Amino acid sequence: AKQLLFVNPNEPPMVFSWFPVIGSTITYGMDPPTFFRENQKKHGDCFTFILLGKKTTVYVGPNGNDFILNGKIKDVCAEEIYTVLTTPVFGKDVVYDCPNSKLMEQKKFMKIALTTEAFRSYVPIISDEVETYLKRTPDFKGQSGIVNICPKMAQITIFTASHSLQGKEIRDKFDEKLADLYHDLDMGFSPINFMLHWAPLPWNNRRDYAQRTVAQIYMDVIKSRRAKGDKGAQDMMAHLMNSTYKNGVQVPDHEIAHMMIALLMAGQHSSSSTSAWIMLRLASRPDIMEELYQEQVKAFGAHLPPLKYEDLAKLPLNQAIVKETLRLHAPIHSIMRAVKSPMPVPGTKYVIPTDHVLLAAPGVSASDEQYFPQPDLWEPHRWEPDHPLTPSHVRNATNEDEEEKIDYGYGLVSKGTASPYLPFGAGRHRCIGEHFANVQLQTITAIIVRNFKFRNVDGSDKVIGTDYASLFSRPLEPANIYWEKRN
Ligand code: HEM
Repeated sequence: AKQLLFVNPNEPPMVFSWFPVIGSTITYGMDPPTFFRENQKKHGDCFTFILLGKKTTVYVGPNGNDFILNGKIKDVCAEEIYTVLTTPVFGKDVVYDCPNSKLMEQKKFMKIALTTEAFRSYVPIISDEVETYLKRTPDFKGQSGIVNICPKMAQITIFTASHSLQGKEIRDKFDEKLADLYHDLDMGFSPINFMLHWAPLPWNNRRDYAQRTVAQIYMDVIKSRRAKGDKGAQDMMAHLMNSTYKNGVQVPDHEIAHMMIALLMAGQHSSSSTSAWIMLRLASRPDIMEELYQEQVKAFGAHLPPLKYEDLAKLPLNQAIVKETLRLHAPIHSIMRAVKSPMPVPGTKYVIPTDHVLLAAPGVSASDEQYFPQPDLWEPHRWEPDHPLTPSHVRNATNEDEEEKIDYGYGLVSKGTASPYLPFGAGRHRCIGEHFANVQLQTITAIIVRNFKFRNVDGSDKVIGTDYASLFSRPLEPANIYWEKRN
């Protein structure tokens, strides 16, 4: 009732809650997409709720995505929200522990390292890592079995990403102590650390030790590469070692090390969750898994040759698997920004004040039937131009080059305003790892399809629920799959 007395007609409608500080934290936290959809039905695309005492304004749909993700630097700020969580894990002077203009330069370095030549070298590295993993992992010994797929995909993701982006020296250290250290770093990414960042949480000492030790490992590798005059590698570390900021300062070693941590952490959670969902979806649709295998046989012949970067473009269904899985299982369900100056919402009477936090949720439009017919159905064929379920923005797509593009300092990126599908975000904070993630996920999927047939343990087409308890959403565990080797 107290909240109703203070309703401000110039602010978006407030989601009602009986609890003053907790507000809707619990209902939101248990299942963010359902919370967004139910309140969108009640209040429209723009509404406010209380998240841990903070007025949090959600604005969903393409207009909301544009309003928040393409917000001006004077109006919205990401680092103010994220730095408490990321700085202790990544380290100083990178990403959100520096002015936004520096992040834009750092993103530019990372983006230009990802050349076609680099990707050509990554696909064989990723394929080999997957093949070796499948051969040496005890859970995949024999002709068939049941496995909780999530930890397996987490390992495959970290081995493939570290080897391709950071080189063999770093990859080999994951068989020694680096895996445990990254595990300790990961504990710094728990939602409790976000909520109680000022508290002396018991695992923070281990997190801080892990941060220092991992950074030192990278710095030692950089030093030894410099001593050897090693410049040949296509990995990201080699590129950053030769990068210079606009002010003429060469990227310092500790920043390269911290960017390496940031890169691996950013990619790890999102790609490992997505690859686990891909495998779970394939287990629920063995017919599609068979179609994927036949797609490769048709493209390359019955004796499948080693996979090359150029081959991925010859496998449209394999590409669509990744796209459709990210439509329904985007690992980042909420993207937040602090409000730096009052922001009028175009076409409404609302002005978002500076004591609100803005929250974008691109996943809402990606599962809205206004844009995607039968939105809850996982159907990779819908990404073909003339399937009954093809979304209208794909069916009516003009040349992609005509999409509005903008340069925030890290190269031209599509503004993404016209699209209801933005699993990689939009605007100045847009993902620079999109192409890498696609190449990694498509390669992993193609190699697994060559080796296995999957199905659900009970043979049904059911799919497991989502775990929203960590900052990145992922499948609930154990997420068991029945596998059988292909002869
Ligand atoms: C940013 C999603 C993989 C590096 C983002 C954002 C999203 C996203 C939604 C925007 C965050 C925001 O606006 O606050 C994903 C998904 C991935 C993925 C769904 C995989 C399926 C990767 C990989 C890398 C990476 C593999 C590294 C190689 C980054 C970086 C940013 C970013 C550096 C920029 C952060 C910023 O500017 O604030 N990603 N990502 N991501 N991602 Fe990814």
